[in-house]
Amino acid sequence: MNPTDSDRLQSEDFSLDIQSYESTACRVDISPVPRPEYQNPFLPSLNTGEESQQGGTFHLEGNPQQFRVFFEGNQLAEFGSLKSSFPAWARDKSRAPEEWTSLIHEIEGSHSIFGLGEKTKYLEKSGGTYEMWNRDPSGLYTHNEDPLYTSIPFYIVRKDDDPFSYLGLYLHHSERSKFDVQNRLGRGKVGLGVAAPRISMFLLPATTLKEVVKQFTQLTGKPFMPPKWAIGYHQSNYGIPHDEEEARDMARKFRQKEIPCDALYFDIQHMDEHRVFSWDRDRFPDPKGLMEDLHEQNFKGVTIVDPGIKKEEGYSPYDTGRERDVFIKDSEGEDFVGSLWPGFSTFPDFLRSETRDWWAKYNNQQLDWGVDGIWNDMNEPAIFFSRKNLYEQARQIQQDIDKGKSFGSELKHHLIEMATTTPEGLQHRDDSGEYHPHEKVHNLYGYYEAKATTEGLKQHRPNKRPFILTRAGFSGIQKYAAKWTGDNSSTWEHMKLSVYMVLNLGLSGVPFSGPDIGGFEGDVEPELLTRWIQLGSLFPFCRNHSGLDTVPQQPWSFGEPYERINKEYISLRYRIMPYLYTLFYKAHRTGLPLFRPLFMEFPSDNEARSITDHFMVGDALLAAPVLERGASKKSLYLPEGKKGTLDWQDWWTGKSYESGYHHFDAPLEKLPLFIREDHGVPLTETVQHTEDLPDTLRLRYNLKQKARVPIYHDDGETKDFQEGDYFFGEFVIDAQEGEKHADVSLEAKHEGREPFWDNVVLE
Ligand code: GLC
Repeated sequence: MNPTDSDRLQSEDFSLDIQSYESTACRVDISPVPRPEYQNPFLPSLNTGEESQQGGTFHLEGNPQQFRVFFEGNQLAEFGSLKSSFPAWARDKSRAPEEWTSLIHEIEGSHSIFGLGEKTKYLEKSGGTYEMWNRDPSGLYTHNEDPLYTSIPFYIVRKDDDPFSYLGLYLHHSERSKFDVQNRLGRGKVGLGVAAPRISMFLLPATTLKEVVKQFTQLTGKPFMPPKWAIGYHQSNYGIPHDEEEARDMARKFRQKEIPCDALYFDIQHMDEHRVFSWDRDRFPDPKGLMEDLHEQNFKGVTIVDPGIKKEEGYSPYDTGRERDVFIKDSEGEDFVGSLWPGFSTFPDFLRSETRDWWAKYNNQQLDWGVDGIWNDMNEPAIFFSRKNLYEQARQIQQDIDKGKSFGSELKHHLIEMATTTPEGLQHRDDSGEYHPHEKVHNLYGYYEAKATTEGLKQHRPNKRPFILTRAGFSGIQKYAAKWTGDNSSTWEHMKLSVYMVLNLGLSGVPFSGPDIGGFEGDVEPELLTRWIQLGSLFPFCRNHSGLDTVPQQPWSFGEPYERINKEYISLRYRIMPYLYTLFYKAHRTGLPLFRPLFMEFPSDNEARSITDHFMVGDALLAAPVLERGASKKSLYLPEGKKGTLDWQDWWTGKSYESGYHHFDAPLEKLPLFIREDHGVPLTETVQHTEDLPDTLRLRYNLKQKARVPIYHDDGETKDFQEGDYFFGEFVIDAQEGEKHADVSLEAKHEGREPFWDNVVLE
């Protein structure tokens, strides 16, 4: 059969359509015959480019129920066969069979599978079953917790015996879905099921992992370019600042102690009895004045915004929200009421433009107070419970018990589920007034909130790059917000988990993420905080946050030697800011993550394939954080390049090491860090915040023959870079044979702005 760019398979019961897109990707739609009525107009739009234009070609074999796709020029030449049946455990028993579509992706040979967004467990996802249904696990989450706050139904298959064979699969559905990854179905199989009567997906074959991630972000959207302050060190705490004085004191301490910091967060404590968009005027009498004072010291202020609007007459957001009819409805068409921090609350329906407009007004009021960034929390949306649900649930359980049913763990699961996020059965409306079931858009709530918030901020400050931090999201959330990984805990396990989660989010298209450094739940111990700050100084999103009434975990909270070490690593982040900022720009352009598993940079190194506790930050730095209590050594593997052994330079001593396994001393003050051969890092002196630009740029490099060190610079806050107001160039460092000195030149690629440095010092 000749390769083609669109095809159709038809049987009596099923039809399958496949269509190639701009890159090598293709879209597959499988439907029972006759084709059931189904649409989901709220699925985020995709950039599918021009259909068929220079599209990859493939050929298709089989029938709609058992087909194979072979991609031209790709070693992973097939997408496995489809089977219409799915094992009983994966079926959603509460649904009619025609409301649940499933298939099995059969993959020959041995494979590793990555992705699926925000998931616990290890980086490799085999041996697990995962659900997509945004949910606040309510309290600390464990290694097995699933689902969590954000849904990204996308995974990447890597062929274990072929370093140049990858396939991305994006299930293009926001309804509840389930993935069984080489688990109950056994090796070589991924089961997919979705609460929809037919299934749509995208197949992204590629020869490198980077290419898959680029394609996926091409499809779902490239990450936003944050303002520079958003990638500095941020300090947060549920209970602090409790009042203006505490906020000022915090800012003062950072500057006095010369610990760099860019932003302070205001959690729900700043509100008047947890009413969003309010300040408790007894404790925060002059928010505007406070923000001005913080700005004077080059701090930014970020306030939390929850979606629960207190159901209380006389409270402006509730009154105006009712007037404009912006809230989600329950099954009877009444405003849905669930309990959240302020008590019984209603929830904005972000699918309506009326709601987005109303939302923008309240967000903009925050900006008038001088707030710089918005922190969207509880947007799964989370609820503690809803009264109607509680009654209904209790009645049902009572009835079942009366009938003699005895309950086991499923009741617990049920109750927890009910108490953590909005239930099915709610209703949304679009602009024409048509109703849409919550089931379809539940996973999109955080996404649309972030979109609405972005649009609101744009109205108010058209030329400023917004900063929004979100807990919930869906594929494409990278266009609008940074993502933090919710309520983790102050344990060594969670620190480890944070590495996997950030790596995995990066592979799932979300490069700007990070955990609560130090852990949210429970008391952090000094050693853990220091190790986490060391690691955290390299996270794309770098915020120390902790729960109410936990021991203080500011960088200075435990005195010496911890304070000194914490300061050193936060300062390191600010020293390598030119490197990080350049990586953010690249992420914005390409979708490539900052945190990369070794196998993303070194695909041909077999040894590097299974290593996940050390990783690359960009393409030049390898970081090997200590993740165990009491450890003072780190065993690690320095990968090989395509042509064999590489030279790796110790960041701290400048000593060279060859590819292979090594044991390094890693006492508390040391995070093993290495520069890759023929790579370099642009850096500066330590600064106290990102607005400070020293006039000397340093280049630290590890040279054998030739290194190219990219550097990006813009004004750090406006959108003018989109009009060309930026500098991008590459330092080319050439080793001169027989000479001690290297030749260094700067190749400017785009000179829309002067570089910030006056002189360059080589290290
Ligand atoms: C949620 C958030 C947490 C925040 C708390 C209070 O638990 O995940 O970060 O501190 O609510 O607002």
